[in-house]
Amino acid sequence: MKPLTCFVCCFFILSMSPLLSQTNYDESKVPSFEVPDPLMTFKGKKIKTVKKWEKTRRPELFHFFENNVYGKIPKTLKIDSYTILEQDDNAFNGKAKRKQVELSFKNNGKTLRYTILLYLPKNKVKAPVFLGYNFYGNHTITEDKAVFISSAWANNNESFGIENNTLTEVSRGKRTNRWAVEKILDAGYGLATIYYGEVDPDKNDFTDGIHSLLYQQDQNHPKPDEWGSIAAWSWGMVRAVDYFEKDPDIDASKVIAFGHSRLGKTSLWAGVMDKRFAGVISNDSGCGGAAMSKRKFGETLAVINDRFPHWFCDNFNEYNENEEALPVDQHQLLALIAPRPLYVASAQEDQWADPRGEFLSAHYATQVYHLYDKEGIETMEMPKVNEPIHNTVSYHIRTGKHDVTDYDWENYIKWANAYVK
Ligand code: GCU
Repeated sequence: MKPLTCFVCCFFILSMSPLLSQTNYDESKVPSFEVPDPLMTFKGKKIKTVKKWEKTRRPELFHFFENNVYGKIPKTLKIDSYTILEQDDNAFNGKAKRKQVELSFKNNGKTLRYTILLYLPKNKVKAPVFLGYNFYGNHTITEDKAVFISSAWANNNESFGIENNTLTEVSRGKRTNRWAVEKILDAGYGLATIYYGEVDPDKNDFTDGIHSLLYQQDQNHPKPDEWGSIAAWSWGMVRAVDYFEKDPDIDASKVIAFGHSRLGKTSLWAGVMDKRFAGVISNDSGCGGAAMSKRKFGETLAVINDRFPHWFCDNFNEYNENEEALPVDQHQLLALIAPRPLYVASAQEDQWADPRGEFLSAHYATQVYHLYDKEGIETMEMPKVNEPIHNTVSYHIRTGKHDVTDYDWENYIKWANAYVK
């Protein structure tokens, strides 16, 4: 978008929405609040051992996030069948094995299908993989002509040539900048990606996508404590791991959940829901992801729930402009990933996602990693831009905007080499 149009459009949105015009970007205006202690139960008991954490505190925190933030999945639905639609052992300049695998799910007389695009390093017997959703179709992450174009609903995007909510050839390769496929392959990792709109189209409509397969009779909307779209997308990542366990080319014990922005919120919740994820990456996930809600810096709960009413469960609305009432905060979500490696990344110009709130969250989650003798973000002082802190819990803030860059991937690969064992 041209800067002028962008300015006019921002001005229009700001003047339209009183909530947005209240957006706080001033650190001195962050309210003071008590950081909920990950190691104190809701009944006030201090947790001192891994055993107590796993038996008492982790489950109660998990259930809180499940019932009040992301929403619970009504019932288990496993892969009905999978089909390798296409395979080439000499893809990506001869570096990779490419597979396109369709997973199929059936229930309520309905079928849902989504396709995993896999690039696996050729010279590896069982490859560890990064698994992450893409925003505009598998064909956007690469110039590779063999990658299928999804027929699922997509958000229109003028610069990508997406009209009538339909993906076409025009958008092939438009997002190669966000996916460092060659670097990933050279480092001995595979990449698995899925178009998120195939699992649940990103719109406030619950008649489509995976939700409709799990309704009870006469239900057409999730109950207040049932899954929104983020939980649905997370579910799709979990089911992809089920497939990886069956694929002899993949080391399913080394799957790293990756996601950017709304899909970073998704990778976090997937990593929390399923301990088979060996590591988790949150790239600029912001509000409802890694950032602490009670800081009310940048995007707030009222704003996110108003603009994207389908992302979280309906119960989450209770905390709109009422963050004080939340008995938890997002650092406790991060803590639920312990002791598995976690990487939280921010971008300097992405103030909407509250980089400091993302950093502090990683810091406050670290105390749970200590129970397992793992190190994380020990300091409360943010590192300088482009000076990553690498530990079991890692963090960086890079120069630039809300995006995924080669710099991000280089750091994820370094951290994975060192900590995802
Ligand atoms: C919006 C939204 C964010 C989200 C982002 C994205 O900016 O407010 O919460 O992370 O979209 O997914 O790109």
